[in-house]
Amino acid sequence: ADPGPLVIAVDGTSGSGKSSTSRGVADRLGLRYLDTGAMFRAMTWWLLREGVDVRDPAAVAAVAERPTIVSGTDPLAPTITVDGLDVSVEIRGDDVNAAVSPVSAVPAVRALLLDLQREVIGAGGIVVEGRDIGSVVWPQAAVKVYLSADPGARAQRRTAEEGGTDVASTQQSLLERDRIDSGRATAPLTMADGAVHIDSTHLTLEQVIDRIVDLAVSTEVRA
Ligand code: DC
Repeated sequence: ADPGPLVIAVDGTSGSGKSSTSRGVADRLGLRYLDTGAMFRAMTWWLLREGVDVRDPAAVAAVAERPTIVSGTDPLAPTITVDGLDVSVEIRGDDVNAAVSPVSAVPAVRALLLDLQREVIGAGGIVVEGRDIGSVVWPQAAVKVYLSADPGARAQRRTAEEGGTDVASTQQSLLERDRIDSGRATAPLTMADGAVHIDSTHLTLEQVIDRIVDLAVSTEVRA
């Protein structure tokens, strides 16, 4: 079957370098970029602002369709809005970090965002990062990557990105999200069928980007 214009799925644990890698690949190949984690974060930000109890799946499910979440797809300038408000900065806060995994485990949230994600992916030509892209959202993706790195390396990078100093607490927060994301019943984080596993612990960002670009180019040549 013709897989259509290129879709590259990049899944992996929190802080494995998915965002920098996916943006770099999209930029190099002239593709669009979708950060599905940002959509779950935007939903979480909105729920917190509305005062919804994010630990109550029924309460979350009851209101999840209210916010309008729109993702930009420019890899050089990713944006996300909720009801027209740009929340790109707000969705990276500690309050969202702590609540996003339980919110993402609610099936009604996943179903709503799945539709949005498939709409954006549409005709392809896009790098999509998340947890379940290769397994659930777009299993027909021509290139699937599962990105991992040792927890220590991930915590170091994420702490540096956030301009913080507390590597230990960053690591704890990453591991807690991994535990919930991998253990949930609906679309858990998993290595999709046909995914290429890249462990980035000892690789530079450029090396990881190169590998994925090579995979994409050889896939296009085979097609
Ligand atoms: O990629 P990220 O760390 O910004 O994602 C934040 C959370 O969103 C993550 O802990 C789980 C959830 N998520 C998900 O459940 N499915 C996705 N495709 C992407 C993210």
